[in-house]
This record gives sequence, structure tokens and C-alpha cells, in this order.
Amino acid sequence: MLWNSRLPLLGPGLGISLIQLAATVQASQVDLSQYVNAFIGSEGPDGTGFGGGDIFVGGARPFGVAKVGIDSTAANWSTAVLNGGWTPDGNVTGISMMHESGTGGAPKYGLIAQMPLTSVQSPVNVLDNQTYSQPRVGDDVASVGYYKTKLKSGITVELSASRHAGIMDYSFPDGEKHVLIDVSHYLPGSPGDSGSQFYVAGEIQIEDDGKAYSGYGTYIGGWNNGAPFTVFFYGEFSHAPDQAQTFSGVNTDPIPKYQNLADGGISHPTYGNKTNKVTSGPMNRRLGALMSWNSGSAAHVVSRVGISSISTERARSYIQKEIPSWKLNDTVADAVKEWNKDVFNKVQVPLDDSANMTHVRLLYSSLYFIHLMPSDRSGENPLWESEEPYWDDFYTMWDIFRCTVSFYHIFQPEYYESMIRSLIDIWRHAGYMPDGRSGNWNGLVQGGSDSDNVLADAYVKGLRGAINWTDGYAAMVKDAEVTPYNTFDPTDFTASTKEGRGALDDWKELGYVSEDRNTRCISRTVEYSLNDFALSQVAKGEAPGDVQKYLNRSAGWQNIWDSSVKSLNYTGFLAPRLSDGTFNSSDYDPRLCFDCEWSSYTYEGVPWEYSFVVPHDVETLIKFMGGTEGFESRLDTMFKPNMSIQNLGANGAGITTLMNIGNEPDFATPYLYNYINKQHKSVAQSRSLANQYFKDAAYGIPGNSDAGAMNSWLLWQMIGVYPIVTQPVYLISSPWFPDMNMTINGNNTLRIKASGLDDGYFVQSVKINGKQWTKNWFEHDDVMTNGGTIEFELGKDAKGWESGDVPPSPGHVELNQSSMKT
Ligand SMILES: *[C@@H]1O[C@H](CO)[C@@H](O)[C@H](O)[C@H]1NC(C)=O
Ligand SMILES: *[C@@H]1O[C@H](CO)[C@@H](O)[C@H](O)[C@H]1NC(C)=O
Ligand SMILES: *[C@@H]1O[C@H](CO)[C@@H](O)[C@H](O)[C@H]1NC(C)=O
Ligand SMILES: *[C@@H]1O[C@H](CO)[C@@H](O)[C@H](O)[C@H]1NC(C)=O
Ligand SMILES: *[C@@H]1O[C@H](CO)[C@@H](O)[C@H](O)[C@H]1NC(C)=O
Ligand SMILES: *[C@@H]1O[C@H](CO)[C@@H](O)[C@H](O)[C@H]1NC(C)=O
Ligand SMILES: *[C@@H]1O[C@H](CO)[C@@H](O)[C@H](O)[C@H]1NC(C)=O
Ligand SMILES: *[C@@H]1O[C@H](CO)[C@@H](O)[C@H](O)[C@H]1NC(C)=O
Ligand SMILES: *[C@@H]1O[C@H](CO)[C@@H](O)[C@H](O)[C@H]1NC(C)=O
Ligand SMILES: *[C@@H]1O[C@H](CO)[C@@H](O)[C@H](O)[C@H]1NC(C)=O
Ligand SMILES: *[C@@H]1O[C@H](CO)[C@@H](O)[C@H](O)[C@H]1NC(C)=O
Ligand SMILES: *[C@@H]1O[C@H](CO)[C@@H](O)[C@H](O)[C@H]1NC(C)=O
Repeated sequence: MLWNSRLPLLGPGLGISLIQLAATVQASQVDLSQYVNAFIGSEGPDGTGFGGGDIFVGGARPFGVAKVGIDSTAANWSTAVLNGGWTPDGNVTGISMMHESGTGGAPKYGLIAQMPLTSVQSPVNVLDNQTYSQPRVGDDVASVGYYKTKLKSGITVELSASRHAGIMDYSFPDGEKHVLIDVSHYLPGSPGDSGSQFYVAGEIQIEDDGKAYSGYGTYIGGWNNGAPFTVFFYGEFSHAPDQAQTFSGVNTDPIPKYQNLADGGISHPTYGNKTNKVTSGPMNRRLGALMSWNSGSAAHVVSRVGISSISTERARSYIQKEIPSWKLNDTVADAVKEWNKDVFNKVQVPLDDSANMTHVRLLYSSLYFIHLMPSDRSGENPLWESEEPYWDDFYTMWDIFRCTVSFYHIFQPEYYESMIRSLIDIWRHAGYMPDGRSGNWNGLVQGGSDSDNVLADAYVKGLRGAINWTDGYAAMVKDAEVTPYNTFDPTDFTASTKEGRGALDDWKELGYVSEDRNTRCISRTVEYSLNDFALSQVAKGEAPGDVQKYLNRSAGWQNIWDSSVKSLNYTGFLAPRLSDGTFNSSDYDPRLCFDCEWSSYTYEGVPWEYSFVVPHDVETLIKFMGGTEGFESRLDTMFKPNMSIQNLGANGAGITTLMNIGNEPDFATPYLYNYINKQHKSVAQSRSLANQYFKDAAYGIPGNSDAGAMNSWLLWQMIGVYPIVTQPVYLISSPWFPDMNMTINGNNTLRIKASGLDDGYFVQSVKINGKQWTKNWFEHDDVMTNGGTIEFELGKDAKGWESGDVPPSPGHVELNQSSMKT
């Protein structure tokens, strides 16, 4: 709402009719970005960051490279989550240019920082953030493209971002004014965390009498154990400082395998002058610059900073191209315009008095949070020459393959095609497609090689464009056939955690991942099964001779189904199996995973949960669970309170059911009732989870947003359909809005209407493109390619309205039991 008046109205012309024009103008007059609550996911249940979404709060563009925001200290390292930079309770250590959003593990980024200071006298030591970090006063303000905070020192910080640059407006009180530029600043891991990132090298040079500075910083590590990567920068100030100095100092951070002096306590800087260039040198010295303005009355100092993976010149060019004005709010208006055009204006729901504004805010906020990552670094690839687009910060496919990318597919087809081309180009030049990728480095792989699922999902829904699918399929075959070399990651020494499928040796030989030779044997068997199903889907078009092979392999999960394991009242579960073919089930409880970590038999979920994660062959799953009644009863049990006995730690969100909506493996589980034609139960379970765990509030998502994966789950829930990944299939649930127009697949419109919402949310009947619909699912081409209409009649009574075929199980394979070792 703040930026309404700045939005340009459309002019006449373009040969469109007056009526269309009127409609367009009316739509563009509402600034939909005002409905974004940029703090959803910023806190956990106790008001600290712990158990929250770890989201980035600050200035950003859709899939932009720069994410400009504060970095902060940890109040308590054992519960610290500095991943997005911003925390509710930390003190500000800097305002930096790059962030992740929604990630767990050790932080990555928080790079190329400035810090405004009102004093640099002792005890302030520019090498010691403890001596100058600032508590915040009052409440932070954040909206799309804008962030504001007030520091205890009296300085107000406002900031915004373009795609590769940022602008900071510092409003200083009377007195001294300084801006510290610390190239050696980064978001640290907790003490002793082997995943922490570090600064390892840099350079800085003052230009134009202190009005500008340039250089680079090089950083290593962070969550994905990344190789060193370099960020070039160019920064400038609205007016020249009265004094400009470089500084450097001994690096005392304990960087593994790099020169440092970690045992002496933090040192003091050596100052240079404004003509010398400072370089880190062989001891990886820390460095930066200090800009100072003479003591005087209150004033604004504005700074613009560009970043690039290629050069300082390019970093500078981004400022010139993207932030030509020194007025911060010009960039904010530009950001709002871009977000509205690229994202929010593509979804229209009623905003009149009848609208539930909580729902409206959840809708637009969810759209916002799914567009913060990955980062479009096209033209910014420092590693190889290529005509292909380049993307980074897939963090991770394991999180986003389940339903986030399916949303990109319909909603951002151009960006999405570009992402897929980049995944394939990474395979061409770096050997494997990534599961996670950040800082130009593949890693980590939590389960399967889930780029395979992403490619298959795009392929079966017809995405072609400039994607070279011959190469796309070859990249998938690499995942399925070539064991990656062991990276000896301290979190798991047994096999590569960087890329590909670390347990492929077992998978190819045994048809499952064994407990004695590999870690995460159950969850990786489940994921490799879907990965191979993904190959079979793409093989149908690209290599028909391979279809049967990968379809057979996609049944591998059946090889670890131990039909004798009992839990609660049910018999037959996925279970740990040894390489000699015997099950190790005597003391096995599928409600436990011990710490659900890298060396456990299941990762971030218990076997009970993973036993439902076979989207390609639900038919066999139902059979294994005792038919439709057994399946239904077991599914009901997933949602019963107090059934979970595993401590889920920060991801627990107070959840006591086996169903954990706070983590991705269970995303599709509430919708599985559609497979037994009891759609109303899918509606009841999924709606209940959404209402319970998703709020228009700081603690508004159950745990990490995971690059927007959580938010995308809610989006599908609100729209009233759920995609089945690797199939051109959507399950029907129940929409939250009486009317919605969504621009999809370029210029087409998907309209979803619902009558009777005031009475209740159970489906009474459905029409698709005007035709009465008896199935509880539909195919991509029905409405997602050229657009179409889905009309729901809703009501208060749970009704068995569907009579058609259940959703398909295209990966249905009956394993030849004699081929299963026992
Ligand atoms: C503060 O600076 C020290 C010294 O460089 C560093 O080790 C530490 O990680 C920093 N802490 C934060 C919260 O940035
Ligand atoms: C923030 O700084 C204040 C003092 O200025 C200190 O009392 C507090 O403990 C610090 N908090 C954190 C989280 O570092
Ligand atoms: C830090 O958090 C841990 C875990 O919640 C708690 O046990 C510990 O007491 C906290 N430390 C302080 C100093 O508050
Ligand atoms: C700045 O420092 C450099 C390197 O120490 C020195 O060569 C140069 O003369 C100094 N310039 C001024 C203006 O002091
Ligand atoms: C930007 O606009 C906001 C909202 O109107 C206002 O509060 C703020 O002072 C402006 N900032 C600057 C630097 O002009
Ligand atoms: C959706 O589009 C139709 C047709 O243009 C229009 O009548 C309807 O008002 C739109 N609904 C919303 C919520 O914008
Ligand atoms: C809006 O929706 C929320 C969440 O579903 C609900 O709690 C609230 O009562 C609704 N508000 C109105 C005015 O209907
Ligand atoms: C796809 O790439 C391969 C080699 O990487 C090349 O031989 C082939 O011509 C490309 N196909 C298309 C359609 O560009
Ligand atoms: C069998 O399972 C038990 C726990 O139930 C575990 O301690 C043991 O290591 C497993 N055996 C093998 C060979 O993995
Ligand atoms: C697939 O499995 C079936 C049944 O076990 C077997 O007959 C067939 O040869 C297998 N096909 C391939 C290509 O592996
Ligand atoms: C198991 O079955 C017994 C007897 O039918 C019943 O009392 C109990 O509630 C069931 N437990 C669960 C978890 O469904
Ligand atoms: C959408 O339509 C406009 C106007 O007809 C056209 O310029 C634009 O290229 C189309 N966009 C897509 C993605 O098809």
C-alpha cells in the first residue's frame, strides 16, 4: 500500500480494447505486494529463531542474486539459526549482500558487508564484531523490496536490492559517522561445527578519494562443504568521506587447512591509507576499509554496492544498470513493480469485503517465499564458458522436488526452463547434476539424486523449449549408473555426499541399499526407487529401450518390505536389510530412526513415514498394507495424536503425530486418500494440517521453509490441487478462495472457482472445463497447458463424490518374488 502512488499506470495504445484496458488498469492499481508478510517463518515457537523458518528478511528480487539484509549474532549457540542472517534476537554485525533463505545446517553466505558506526574509538576494534555489534531498538519493518531497522547507536538502516546490487540508506544521528567495510565478514557456524564456512582471501582498494571501493572476497565451506568461491564487489557512497582508510589484520578464525593464527585472541588492525591496495597474502589476512565523515549534525549516508562472480567492473556495471538513483525508495518502487509483474499480478483473487484477508496474505506471502531461491546467475558463471543459463542456490532438490518445482512449471515456465538447462549444463561441465548447489558447488545429497525427479516432472508435462533432452536424459543416466567418488564428508565417511547416488553400488547389485554397507539404507532405497521411475518416464521419449530396466529398478523399495515387522496394529514395513539378503528386524521399531541423520537408517523421518512415500506405485503399496481398508486404517493412524515416539528436535514443531508436515518426505501423504476414492479425508487431513501449522505470523511455518518448499505446499493446498511428482497428474483437494485466476504457462489462465465456501470445505461436486468430473484427479493437459476452469461445489458434509478410476500408478511393477533374495 505504501508504494501505490509510485506504480505507473498503463498508458493507452497497444491496440487493446478499452474494456480490456479498463480491466488491466483496475488490476494494476492494486499493489498486491502489500499483502506479503515478509516475516512469516522468521521465528520459532519461543520467539527466538530456533524451530523457525530460517528465512531471509531483507531486500530481494524474484530469483535475484543479491539478497541484502542484516547479519546477526547468536544469543545461544546451541539453538542458533543464523542461516538467513536476520534473527529476532541477535545483535547486528553487518549488512551484507548475499543470503540463503529457509535453510538448515551450517550457514552459508552473509558476504560483502558494511556496518555503520557512530564511534571507532576503543573499545571498538574493527576486527572484533563483539565490540561494535548493535542491538536493535523497536520493531523492524520489512515489506517486498524494503527493510528498515534502528540500531541502539541511533542509526536507522534502510535497504533495498536489485538483482545484483543493493542500496543502503544510513540515517546517522548528530556526531561521528563511519561505515566499516569488512571483506572478512561471513555468517559463522556454531563453534566446532565442521560445516562452518570461512573467509580465506580478499582484496580491497579505495577509489575516487573514498567515494568508492572495490575488490573481492573468497570464502570456503558452509553447509554444502563448498570449494572456495569468490565474490567481486564495487561499492560507492553518495558523498565522499572525509577520511578513507584500508585496514588489515591477522586472521584468527580457525579455518581448517588454511593459514591462520587461531590461538592469539582477536588482533588489532593495521591501517593503510586511501591509495594503497590491501591484499590478504599468504597468511589469509583479514581486511576491509573504514570510511569516516567529520563529526556534524544528523545526516544520511547512502551506499550502493554491486556484486559479481566475474569482476569488479561487472559489479560496478550492475549498479549503473540496476540502481541508477541515490533515492532508496526509487529502488524499492522498482522492486515492488518487478515482484508484482513477475509474480503477484499473475494470481487474482477477490479482495472485496467478503475476502478473508488472512488467506489473501498467506497466498501472496507464500508466492513471495518460493521466489527467493534458487538464484539466477545467468551471465555470472565463473567456472566455464557456455551459452546456457546458469543458476545457483538449489538448496536443495530433496526439498523442492516434491511440489515446489511443479509450481514453477506452471507459474514461471521461462525461469523454470532456464533452471533445467542450467542443471543439465552443470552435468556437462561438472560431471553431475546437483541435488544441492550453492557457491558454485554441488552438495549435499541427503537421499536420492533428486534432479532426476525434477527433470522427469518437467518432461512428462511437456516442457521442451531449448532444453536438450538428449543431454538431460544422459545426465540422469549418469546418476543412475556411475557411483560418485567418495568425498569423505565428516557427516558420513561411507560414500559421496556431494552428488549422484553414493549407495549406487548396493542399488545396482542388490536392488536395495543395504544396512551393513551403506548409511540411510531405508530412505535411500525409497528415493532411488522414485529416481529410477523418473528415468523410466524420460526414457519413454528419449531411450525406449531403457524403460523396462528402470521401471524394474523403481520397484526396489519392495525388496526392503519386511512383511513380518509389526508396529502399532499393523504388519509389514520397510525395514533395514543386510547385503546377505536377511532383514535386520528383530529389535526394529519403524517409529524410530535414532537421530534421523546421515548415518541412521532413515533420514529426517521415521520408517513409518517413508513407508508411504512411493508415489509411482501406490497400487502395490495398498496391496502390501492389506488392501484399501488396511491402507486407510494405517493412513488414519499417521494422523492420530501421540503416536510419535521419535524426538524430532527443531523440526518437531510440537508435532505428536507420525505425520510430520514440518518436513518434506510427508508432503503428499495427507492426499493419499484420493487413491482409495476417499477424497474427503484428504481434504480433512490436509486442511487440518494447514490450519494448525501455517499462520500469517512470524511463527507461521512448521520449521525451516527450505528455500520455500513449505510455502509451496501451502500454495497447492490453497489452490485446491496437489501435483504428483514425475507424473502429469494432479490430485483434487479443496480450494480456499471463491474465485482465482492464475496466469499459467505463459499467457494462459487457470480459473478455479468454488461455491459454498461459507458452508464448509468438503467437495460436493467438481466440473472441469464445464464437464462434470467424476475422478478425484486430472491430467496436466486438462487445464495446465492451455488453461481451463475447475469449478468446485463445496459444503459442510464429507461426501464420497467421486466414482471414477483412482489416480494412476504408472510405476506399478510386480516383482518376481523369486528374484528377491531372502
Ligand atoms: C565475529 O567475528 C569473529 C572474528 O572474526 C568470528 O570468528 C565470529 O564468527 C564472528 N561472529 C559473528 C556472529 O559473526
Ligand atoms: C547484544 O548486545 C547487548 C549489549 O549491547 C548484550 O547485552 C546482548 O547480550 C547481546 N545479545 C546478543 C544476542 O549478542
Ligand atoms: C542454550 O540453549 C540450550 C538448549 O536449549 C540450553 O540448555 C542452555 O541452557 C542455553 N544456554 C544459555 C546460556 O541460556
Ligand atoms: C599510502 O600507503 C602506501 C603503502 O604503504 C604508500 O606507498 C603511499 O605513499 C601512501 N600514500 C600516502 C598518500 O600516504
Ligand atoms: C522510504 O519510504 C518509506 C515509506 O514511505 C519512508 O518511511 C522512508 O522514510 C523512506 N526512506 C527514505 C530514505 O526516503
Ligand atoms: C477471473 O477472470 C474472469 C474472466 O475474465 C473474471 O470475470 C473474474 O472476475 C476474474 N476473477 C478474479 C478473482 O479476478
Ligand atoms: C479467515 O481464515 C482464518 C484461517 O482459516 C480463520 O481463522 C478466520 O476465522 C477467517 N476469518 C474470517 C473473517 O472468516
Ligand atoms: C544435444 O546435445 C548433444 C551433445 O551434447 C548434441 O549432439 C545434440 O545435437 C544436441 N541436440 C540438440 C537438439 O541441440
Ligand atoms: C542391526 O540392527 C541393530 C539395531 O537394531 C544395529 O545395532 C546393528 O548394527 C544392525 N546390524 C548391522 C549389521 O547393521
Ligand atoms: C524386468 O523384470 C522382469 C521380471 O522380473 C524380467 O522378466 C525382465 O527381464 C526385466 N527387464 C529388464 C529390462 O531388466
Ligand atoms: C489396536 O487395536 C486395538 C484393538 O482393536 C485397539 O484398541 C487400539 O486402539 C489399536 N491401536 C491403534 C494404534 O490403532
Ligand atoms: C504474452 O502475450 C503478450 C502480448 O500478446 C506477448 O507479448 C508475450 O510474448 C506473451 N508471453 C508469453 C510468455 O507467451
